[in-house]
Amino acid sequence: MDQIVSEKHGVVGGYVPERPDWTIAQDWQAYSSEEHGVWRTLFERQVALMPGRACQAYMDGLRDLPIDADTIPDFEKLSDVLMRRTGWQVVAVPGMVPNDVFFDHLANRRFPAGQFIRKAHELDYLQEPDVFHDVFGHVPMMMNPVMADFMQAYGEGGLRADRLGELDRLARLYWYTVEFGLVEEAGALRIFGAGILSSFSETRFALEDASPNRIGFDLRRVMRTLYRIDDFQESYFVLPSIDSLLDFARTDFAPIYDELHNTRDLAAAEVIEGDRVFTRGTGERTR
Ligand code: CO
Repeated sequence: MDQIVSEKHGVVGGYVPERPDWTIAQDWQAYSSEEHGVWRTLFERQVALMPGRACQAYMDGLRDLPIDADTIPDFEKLSDVLMRRTGWQVVAVPGMVPNDVFFDHLANRRFPAGQFIRKAHELDYLQEPDVFHDVFGHVPMMMNPVMADFMQAYGEGGLRADRLGELDRLARLYWYTVEFGLVEEAGALRIFGAGILSSFSETRFALEDASPNRIGFDLRRVMRTLYRIDDFQESYFVLPSIDSLLDFARTDFAPIYDELHNTRDLAAAEVIEGDRVFTRGTGERTR
């Protein structure tokens, strides 16, 4: 799922869920050969970009899961492997789900994945996260024990932030890590964010284009930073390691929300004093 959700959750065209947790059957047998073909197209062009761009944890997760070019993955088979490795399972949902439902799934180590796949004529366009974004982008990272714990903590933190009226700040943490995060590995930048890893053009843009900023990750700074939902990001934030996510899984954010009350929001393209700048972007894409 995407944390675009914080804006769009619950407004899915008056959809009434059959089950209170919004899950549906994946109904794997019902995918058509055209749908499996869209998966193959997306998978093949994306997997070719991964070496030297995706982080090691992602590559390891992808290798160890039953995910290949031939068919849309079967969530039960994914869950069998995930459950043994990190105690997570993948459940099918029709699209975006309400925030509280989303957080409750994560808090219980269930990853809600879109059951549908985009159409062949809109390979690069995505209104809602589909099975390619959710499974190819997110699920390999869920094989990593630190990401697994972080995602559960995020679900728990989401339920608390919702009560505190601080969802926007928490959503920015998710956005700039789980969806659009970069990580430093052996002196080079690598991708771990699912929003990038599932996007053919953003995978190269995030690492190689001159336009965006690449800035060392700082929790408070990121919680102040607005983001783009309509285009590639103007800034990417770089974690020192995937393991550093564990700090956030153990952090009580309530005092940090308080601390940030008198600060202004930062524009997505802004660079501020104190930033550890890896790359100062030209901003040419969005100017
Ligand atoms: Co997502």
